Amino acid sequence: MLKNSLFYLLLIVQLISCDNNYRSGMVVSAKHEASKAGIDILKRGGNAFDAMIATDLALAVVYPNAGNLGGGGFMVYRLSDGKNGTLDYREKAPINSKVDMYLDDNNQVIKGLSQNGALAIGVPGTIAGLFEIHDKFGSIPIKELFQPAIDLANNGYKLTSNQVNTINNYKDLILKLNDSIDLFNKTFKKDDLFINKSLAKTLTAISNNGADEFYKGEIANTLSSYIIEKGGIITKEDFALYKPVWRESLELKYKNLNIITMGPPSSGGIVLGQILQMIENYDLNELGHNSEKYIQLLVEAERLSFSDRSKYLGDPDFNKIPIKKLLNEDYLKNRFKSFNYGQSKNSKEINPGKVNIESKETTHYSIVDKFGNAVSVTTTLNGNYGSKLIPKNLGFFLNNEMDDFSIKPGYPNMYGLIGGYINSIEPEKRMLSSMTPTIIEYNSKLSMVLGSPGGPTIITSVLQTILNFYEFGFDMQKSVDLPRFHHLWLPDKIFYEDNILSENIKSNLSKKKYLFNETSSVIGRVDAIHIDKNNYLNPGADKRGDDTAIGY
Ligand code: DON
Repeated sequence: MLKNSLFYLLLIVQLISCDNNYRSGMVVSAKHEASKAGIDILKRGGNAFDAMIATDLALAVVYPNAGNLGGGGFMVYRLSDGKNGTLDYREKAPINSKVDMYLDDNNQVIKGLSQNGALAIGVPGTIAGLFEIHDKFGSIPIKELFQPAIDLANNGYKLTSNQVNTINNYKDLILKLNDSIDLFNKTFKKDDLFINKSLAKTLTAISNNGADEFYKGEIANTLSSYIIEKGGIITKEDFALYKPVWRESLELKYKNLNIITMGPPSSGGIVLGQILQMIENYDLNELGHNSEKYIQLLVEAERLSFSDRSKYLGDPDFNKIPIKKLLNEDYLKNRFKSFNYGQSKNSKEINPGKVNIESKETTHYSIVDKFGNAVSVTTTLNGNYGSKLIPKNLGFFLNNEMDDFSIKPGYPNMYGLIGGYINSIEPEKRMLSSMTPTIIEYNSKLSMVLGSPGGPTIITSVLQTILNFYEFGFDMQKSVDLPRFHHLWLPDKIFYEDNILSENIKSNLSKKKYLFNETSSVIGRVDAIHIDKNNYLNPGADKRGDDTAIGY
């Protein structure tokens, strides 16, 4: 038996993985036009940060249900010299928000209020984030980075059938909440050209006048008046106060890997780290990929981690987050010691551990440039088209990120996540996220850039992609495409994709009292790049969507 199968598998993967000629740069994103906007910048000599800005803005045009100006995100980066860090441009609760703002007089949650319409909106961070990144790392004038998005908005792009389905699902709600809006008041078909002149004007104004146009100028005025007219509470002062935050990345060790990822206000890094540590001493190859025992191992580790998430994770600017303790080896060993391959644990009997405290849309893209810089970005409006509010003369949607707060202790958000006091609403607080943009080093060398949308399934999608590649030796594309499963403590169910569970495995697990979500669902949409030992770039663009990798 191989003691450490990882090392040998990696060796094989590294040897067989030079199957293309891309060495100079690569962008993998949710849409072809956005990957192209980024790669064009790289070809013109721009770095990964320049390409990031062009890709992000292009996504706001060609993928408007998640790409955004009205949302927020996280960027994890690693420079060619190995230095790394993150930028947090997550949305914030408005100054006038209140802990019980979504509850009625009887303390009951008013359904939908945190999900659709003006009260669901958090103060957006994307534009502030992009300008902050440009100030620190940009090498090409910002106007040149805005231009591809402006052109796409002016000239239009062809709708894919996936996009037509999404628009048709949400169109009525968008029209209702915005008192009708020409942009969406039509029937959409595949290959229709989607032109958004208002968005082109908005982008041009920001490109000419800078981030202040969005946070202190005309756009801030228009946004706050529209939001307040629609019953919301975001004022001009909220926009003026918004600031992104550079934060240290969270580094996790797993066997030979150094995983550079997002710490709070994302739960992603800590939950990923807890799960990896709990399973690290198991021989996964011996269990078998997606076998009954493998599913049990991951599910039980996920159950425990998501339970800790509910109690200990929130905005680090408001609470002390016990990161070291949550990732402490003895704590995790103790927490996982009762694991066995017998009956399912019962989530109702699982509580967050005792840690002593001192004192439905997102998008991910991955970029590597010829200098060896890597950028991993997950950005979101939260649900598809966010709050569905789109001030018509601005042409972009505003997020519904307030639903990521715990709006009432124990009440599940739209992804089924529950939380407590630590993630309750407070003015200017950031809501807890699961976004997990990640960069991996193998033997201190850049090895992988990855991330995913999917609410809490982001974390388990990133986890399974890492294990597929480094433990089981699948290539990058296959590691992304293989079907996935997921457990988030409560609800106490295994979520799974088609064809992952044979009848045999399902019936064996059912006998062990594991419960399943009745309908199989799509789990995550990973966009990843593997960098092999000769610096060839191998893409993994998730086949679940229209995702596209472009390299050169
Ligand atoms: O920050 C979070 O965790 C959520 N707002 C992400 C939502 C998401 O991934 C939706 N994508 N399908």
